Parts: sequence; C-alpha cells; structure tokens
Amino acid sequence: MTHPLKILIVAAEATPFIKTGGLADVAQALPGALHRQGHDVRLALPCYGSIPASLKGTQRGTLFVNLDGTTQYGAWRETRLPDVDVPVYLIENDHYFWRDHPYSVNGYEYVDNLDRFCFFSRGVLDAVAQTGWRPDVVHGNDWHTAPLITYLNTHLANHTFWRGMPTVYTIHNLGYQGCYPKNLLPRTGLGWDLFHPDCLEFYGELNLMKGAIAFATKINTVSRTYAREIQTPAYGLGLDGFLRTRKKDLTGIKNGIDYSLWNPQTDPHITANYSPDKLAGKQRCKRAVQDLADLPHRKDVPLFAIVTRLVWEKGIDLIVEAMDSFLRKGAQLVALGSGDPHLEVALETAGARWPDQVSVILGYDEPLAHSIYAGADFFIMPSRSEPCGLTQMYSLAYGAIPIVRRTGGLADTVTDLTPANLAKGLATGLVFRPATAEALTRATHRALRLYEDLKTLTAMRRAGMREDLSWERASAEYVALYNDAIDATKKRYAATVDPAKW
Ligand code: ADP
Ligand code: GLC
Repeated sequence: MTHPLKILIVAAEATPFIKTGGLADVAQALPGALHRQGHDVRLALPCYGSIPASLKGTQRGTLFVNLDGTTQYGAWRETRLPDVDVPVYLIENDHYFWRDHPYSVNGYEYVDNLDRFCFFSRGVLDAVAQTGWRPDVVHGNDWHTAPLITYLNTHLANHTFWRGMPTVYTIHNLGYQGCYPKNLLPRTGLGWDLFHPDCLEFYGELNLMKGAIAFATKINTVSRTYAREIQTPAYGLGLDGFLRTRKKDLTGIKNGIDYSLWNPQTDPHITANYSPDKLAGKQRCKRAVQDLADLPHRKDVPLFAIVTRLVWEKGIDLIVEAMDSFLRKGAQLVALGSGDPHLEVALETAGARWPDQVSVILGYDEPLAHSIYAGADFFIMPSRSEPCGLTQMYSLAYGAIPIVRRTGGLADTVTDLTPANLAKGLATGLVFRPATAEALTRATHRALRLYEDLKTLTAMRRAGMREDLSWERASAEYVALYNDAIDATKKRYAATVDPAKW
C-alpha cells in the first residue's frame, strides 16, 4: 500500500443516513474501501431530520457561521459509518436541515438551498478545524459542496489550519450546478471579485459548481466516457468550454459496487440467494417480484424492470413510448420510481393500459429495489446522459441483463451482445445509441429474441455476475488522484515560496 492518507470526504447524502440516488451509495462505499486499505478517512454530511436517531451519535461542538453579516448557529455531531470504523461528522442546524427530504418537497427545490449548502460547507470546515485532525486532502462531491472548495481557496486561503489544503472535486452529475440569481451572491459570503467568467459567473448568474471547477486542485467525474462527454457542447450544459480549460486536471473514475450490500449470494432482502453457478434461486426471485407487483406467475415471458429517479435525463419518456411494442409480445414490466410528477403520471397512465402485464410502483423502496434486480430478466436504462449509473451495475451483479443507451458510465460498464463479444465471453447486455423510442424498441425486441435462446441468455447472465465491479479498483484510483492533488499543491507552494526569505 502507498503510505496512509488522511482524507476528508464531504457529501450531501450517504447510505444508510440519507439517500436519494447513487451519490449516497458512493459516499458510503468509497470511505469503507479506503478504510480497508488503511487510510484514515472521515465523512461529513448535513444532519437531516430524517436521519434515524440511532445513527446520529453525540454532539461534540457548536458552530457560529457568519457568511452575510448575520451569524447562523449550529452544532456538529460525531458518529460512525455502521460496521466500519469511519468517523462521520454531522453538521446540525435545525432550521436548515430538520426536513425529511434533503433537497426538495413534492419535486420542488427548497428556496433556501443556497443558504443551506453554504452553511453546510462552511460548517464542515469549522467543525473539522475544531477536531484538530488536519486532513491531507479534502474531497468534495457535487454542487452542494462546491462552496467548500471555494471557501478553502478564498476565505481560508491564509487560515493557519486550512492553508494550502489540496482538494479533489467530483462531479457526479453536471445536470445540477447550483445556479442562482446573481443578487444572491452576498448570501454565500463570497466577494464580487469572484463574479467573473473564469469563476462564479455563468451567463449573468451565480454558478457554485463553477467556483469548485475553478479552484479544485484535481477534478474528476464518475466514468471515463462522461469525463470526455462533458467537455463537448452536447453534454457540457454550458460548462464544456470552462471544463476544457481544466482538461489536464480532469479525469474519470468509474464507481464500484459494495458487495457487502449488493450480492445475490448473501442479500437478506431477496427471496432466494443464488450465484452464477447456481442460478435456480433467480427463478424464485422472479415469482416473488411477480407477487409483490401483483402480476401473474409467468416463466415463459421475460420480466423487464426499471428502478430509477423519474427525471427526463433517465429517458423515462422513451420507455413510455416504447413499452407498448414489447408488451404486445406478452412481456411483463415492473417499474419502481419517483420524481418528476409529470413523468410519474405518464408512466402510470401508460402502465394502466396493460393491467395484467405492467406494475408501476411510485415511491422509494430500498428492499423492493433489491427484489426487483434479483427477479428481473432485463433492466431498462435508456438514459440521455448517465455520469456512471449504479443500477445497471446492480443489474449485472444480480443477473438482470441491462438494456442501455451507449453514454457515460453505461458505455463503460455494459458490453453489447455481438457475435465477437459473445465468443469471447464478454457480452453482458444490449446496447443502443440513438436516444429515440425506435432505438429502444429495437433493443427490447433483441431482448425478446434473447429470452428464447436460453444458452446465450444464461452465458450472458453469468458473465455479468462474474464481473469484478468492486470498489477496490476504484478506491485505488482515488488514492492515486489524492496523491496527485497533494503533489500538485506541494509544487505550487514550492513555486510561490521564495527560498531566499528562509
Ligand atoms: P442516480 O444517482 O442518477 O439516481 P444511480 O444509478 O447512480 O442513479 O443510482 C441510483 C440509486 O438509487 C441506486 O442505488 C438505486 O437502486 C436507487 N434508487 C433509485 N430509485 C429508487 C427507488 N424508487 N426506490 C429504491 N431505490 C431507488
Ligand atoms: C449521479 C449520477 C449517476 C452516478 C451517481 C453516483 O447521481 O446521475 O450516474 O452513478 O451520481 O456517482
């Protein structure tokens, strides 16, 4: 092992404290994997009202955060990631965080998200300084922690504790940049001197993510393909040009999956455990999902599934358009999701036309998600963009063959069924390119044919289940990135310190 590092990871969500999507799985699994490799890693999260009391640990100190001339009071607590000896700092402020959902209510963003995540960012830095534990590197994730990277490089650039801190900033989704009207800038505590196109200004608005992209020592995203895509106008959402200015410092590290939680051989949420060599349990899991979804027990037709946030980015409208065609052939579909109210209605309405073949379950249900990956024959994911995607990886691990659009992490994790890939034992899924209902329909028809070919189907299930998708590889890549950030910071300081003065 390289020498042990002290790493502070900061995120807006982490399993099992609070989860809305894949970020939570990453913020739980990456610290665990780094800890197993001998690093001293600690995690910081907001202390949301919905975090179970048993996970909240003990209050350790108070916080006085003054960003815009008024002091906001808070506190910080210390707890542990369950089953792993990783300290977790929870930043408390009941006014900001005593809410059930971390970001929104009924699909609408809280109006004070800017204040909430600026308070969080600054509160983390004050809390960690109080512990006296100085990390070697600070790792921020997504727009919620972008202000933290900016504070380290402005307010705290000459702070005795934080001065010269190397930073890594991970973009899990460029679709959420933290954009606000420019007149809100004073509420962040940051100065107008930063409001220019090379920092916080974005088409006349305030863009918090831009600040982190400008200041972070190293930037990464969650797959190689997405790291490339976001530097192009088609995927850059207005930031492609700015990201290209940091091209040398921008990499992609594909996420992993945590096999202690996502393994059909041991998963306590599923009806029968199974493995690539003993697949019989998967049939029982299919029956169990058909029961849960109120669908008839049918072995002879494939069960398609989706488990997702219902947002445009995920191509839900394409599924709505394509479903009639494969349902007409007798297939079944189970859909678990929540999100955009319009997409919820569209999915439910389309599903209602096929009461004996489709079950749409609106809501968020973690155990049910496990049962669906286990019971499904195929998992549909026609994302318009997908930074990494964990659900297709869970599907691979559970032998549900993913049907994906070739983009971002989907392109990097699923290998298409072609004669050559099949012969080499590499084929794990069905991949299509255009973001259209026609292309998705063709892919689902390939799935229907594949379902008739038991030998190929089983070979593909096994190939997916046997793939090593563990965090060990990804966490080693993060360690290399942390070390790069540390070395780059040392070099920068060596260049700015005049030896003649010493
Ligand atoms: P994203 O982070 O963009 O939502 P990912 O594929 O990275 O996509 O991760 C999604 C995570 O959220 C997975 O762990 C998936 O199982 C879970 N998930 C999404 N929607 C639901 C739901 N409705 N119920 C339970 N789990 C869900
Ligand atoms: C984001 C992305 C998803 C990724 C997850 C974890 O939510 O949308 O693709 O897997 O972050 O990195």
